Amino acid sequence: MAVLVVLLLLFTLALSARIRPSYNGTFREEVPVAAGFPPPHVTDLRIHDPSIIRVGGTFYSYSVGPRMVIHQAPSLDGPWTQTGSVLSADSIIPKGDRKAPWAPNTIQIGDTFYCYYAVSNAGCRDSAIGLATSPSPGPGGWTDHGLLIQSGYGEGAERFPLDQSNTIDPNIFLDFDGTVYMIYGSFWTGIWSIALHSDLMSISTTTDGALDATHLAAEPGVIFRARKNANSICGDVTGAHPVEGAFLTYHAPYYYLWFSWGRCCEFKNEQMRNSGKEYRIRVGRSASARGPFVDKQGQDLVDGGGETVYGSNGEVFAPGGQGILTDELGDILYYHYLNTSISYDFWEARLGYNRLEYVDGWPVAV
Ligand SMILES: *[C@@H]1O[C@H](CO)[C@@H](O)[C@H](O)[C@H]1NC(C)=O
Ligand SMILES: *[C@@H]1O[C@H](CO)[C@@H](O)[C@H](O)[C@H]1NC(C)=O
Repeated sequence: MAVLVVLLLLFTLALSARIRPSYNGTFREEVPVAAGFPPPHVTDLRIHDPSIIRVGGTFYSYSVGPRMVIHQAPSLDGPWTQTGSVLSADSIIPKGDRKAPWAPNTIQIGDTFYCYYAVSNAGCRDSAIGLATSPSPGPGGWTDHGLLIQSGYGEGAERFPLDQSNTIDPNIFLDFDGTVYMIYGSFWTGIWSIALHSDLMSISTTTDGALDATHLAAEPGVIFRARKNANSICGDVTGAHPVEGAFLTYHAPYYYLWFSWGRCCEFKNEQMRNSGKEYRIRVGRSASARGPFVDKQGQDLVDGGGETVYGSNGEVFAPGGQGILTDELGDILYYHYLNTSISYDFWEARLGYNRLEYVDGWPVAV
């Protein structure tokens, strides 16, 4: 009986904590991440927003850093060695952090490696997604093709939904029907997908120039205040809506949209660390790559839904920037995290990973 009462109480609390999100400037209540996540497999790789592929017996990791750094290892556990960079010069896209593009996503299609990357400036949506290709996964053979899409300023940025989103954090997904999707987005209106041509190098548009776009996830509530002097390009005047780093996967019979929710970085002071709003890895599922993606309660990710699959636990703080690797044993969730025993500093984030089990079609980190 006592158990029932406690359960009822918890349920009521959970319901009241789940304030309906809105874009009206109302802060959304958010409970800190629940305990109970397993510890990660710990590695020696310092990284943010890892993108990892396996080619034969070698793992390749691509990440932010001068011209996007490449690390290689014989196993996910390491040892990881920096072997070079993707680009041999600054990005040819004339905006943002072209010396050190952000959050690359590398995939192999046939004999070609495609590395999608972003150039931007922190807190601003004057951003762009570009592409480099190579016949080999390591350093040395990459050609920078430059701009695919951009938001903020520049040609085409006025098109929907580029006019209200931030073109960073690209992720490419090939659907069974041959459609190629580029998922992207960070803050503002959240996560979108747009269709690419089958060459994977150009945007698919209708005859009137519209993008084939779908809204996949958003945080309509205000989670923290935007910077002072916010305008529509640098800082969001409606407040911060922190969802980003999306990654689309398929595990029969569902598509899964993974994303990072909360504050990624800037944990210099106690208040930022203890706000309960640090990064965590969330997911929703759908019968279609175009959504709608929902969480266990059936709440659409576009309305602020999302199951937390991995969050702070023990020495692990603010895990996010995740991706999924699949091998003969199943899916592996990999991400970066801060080790509270080491440092909260941006450059001290490490690669960690957990295998996934699917319980009733919902992924659980083990
Ligand atoms: C803003 O949205 C919240 C949540 O939906 C609601 O409770 C609140 O009344 C709204 N405030 C205004 C000023 O509309
Ligand atoms: C955190 O760092 C300490 C000290 O280096 C180490 O012993 C521990 O295994 C690390 N934990 C994680 C989860 O990385």
